[in-house]
Amino acid sequence: MADKKIYSASTTAPVNIAVVKYWGKRDAKLNLPTNSSLSPAAALSPRTPSRQTACFRELKALRKKLEDANPSLPKLSEYHVHIVSENNFPTAAGLASSAAGFAALVRAIANLYELPESPTELSKIARQGSGSACRSLFGGYVAWEMGQAVDGSDSCAVEVAPASHWPELKAAILVVSAAKKGVSSTAGMQATVNTSALFAHRARDVVPKRMEAMRAAIRNRDFERFAAHTMADSNQFHAVCLDTTPPIFYMNDVSRAAIRAIEALNTLEGRVVGAYTFDAGPNAVIYYREKDEEKVLGFLGELLAPEVAEWAGKYAKVALEGYDNKLF
Ligand code: DP6
Repeated sequence: MADKKIYSASTTAPVNIAVVKYWGKRDAKLNLPTNSSLSPAAALSPRTPSRQTACFRELKALRKKLEDANPSLPKLSEYHVHIVSENNFPTAAGLASSAAGFAALVRAIANLYELPESPTELSKIARQGSGSACRSLFGGYVAWEMGQAVDGSDSCAVEVAPASHWPELKAAILVVSAAKKGVSSTAGMQATVNTSALFAHRARDVVPKRMEAMRAAIRNRDFERFAAHTMADSNQFHAVCLDTTPPIFYMNDVSRAAIRAIEALNTLEGRVVGAYTFDAGPNAVIYYREKDEEKVLGFLGELLAPEVAEWAGKYAKVALEGYDNKLF
């Protein structure tokens, strides 16, 4: 029997916290969304087997095509693959762990298979693992264009601007709870699509305009507009969750205290220094400009937490566990 070589590839992918949220599928099998969405990547696991199977099916088909065109290539499409995936972040706690997990999976296998496809092409595969994963194939500012085609061929991620475009923009993650969320994003958004009257208004009338406004805010490095849309989108996303039957509550008292803290700080300063956003969980992500870091983290640290820890060099994590939210 001929010796089989061992090939390996590893990669990392960032989590991404959307400032215009994806919430709702028009096709659950292909993960086609009901609205476009947009996120900056935070530089900082795969889920059900069928989602992994969908990604592998597509990746193997691309490799097979490559092998057919280049007969001297090893037949990697026939090899078994052993995958090890780790998060350095709470999993399934509303902090984009599935986005980073599926993006890393697709990127690593594409590297292993030496696929020439662009990140935008690969994003169509990552999307089938987890919708938001398509945005994690890029760094910087990324839009997921919802597309129109029924086969999903135009539902993909595109770069709005590289990270270097706006290096002053930073994010602080307030880990309110690392516990697994009660309602998964997949189940939650399906329930919203089926039962919320507010949802159609959001998808049809609000998000398309907000996507344009957010793109312009990023292009112009206009923090005030960026912050206003980020907070409004987070609030509307949680409003459609509340408008779902039965209602979905992702935020808790500490999350709401963080909102009040940021609103209070902005009022106190007489300008917008911080913007909050929450995904499908209670943990807050605060966007701010580097020049305001001390102000934002100092204020939050003083009011909300006993400890403000520098995290991953670039991002800060404010530990809020056990915080007495009666302060607000
Ligand atoms: C609130 O991408 O986790 O974070 O496609 O079902 O895997 P599936 O959902 P997922 O949903 C993310 C929802 C969100 C908003 C966002 O990231 O845009």
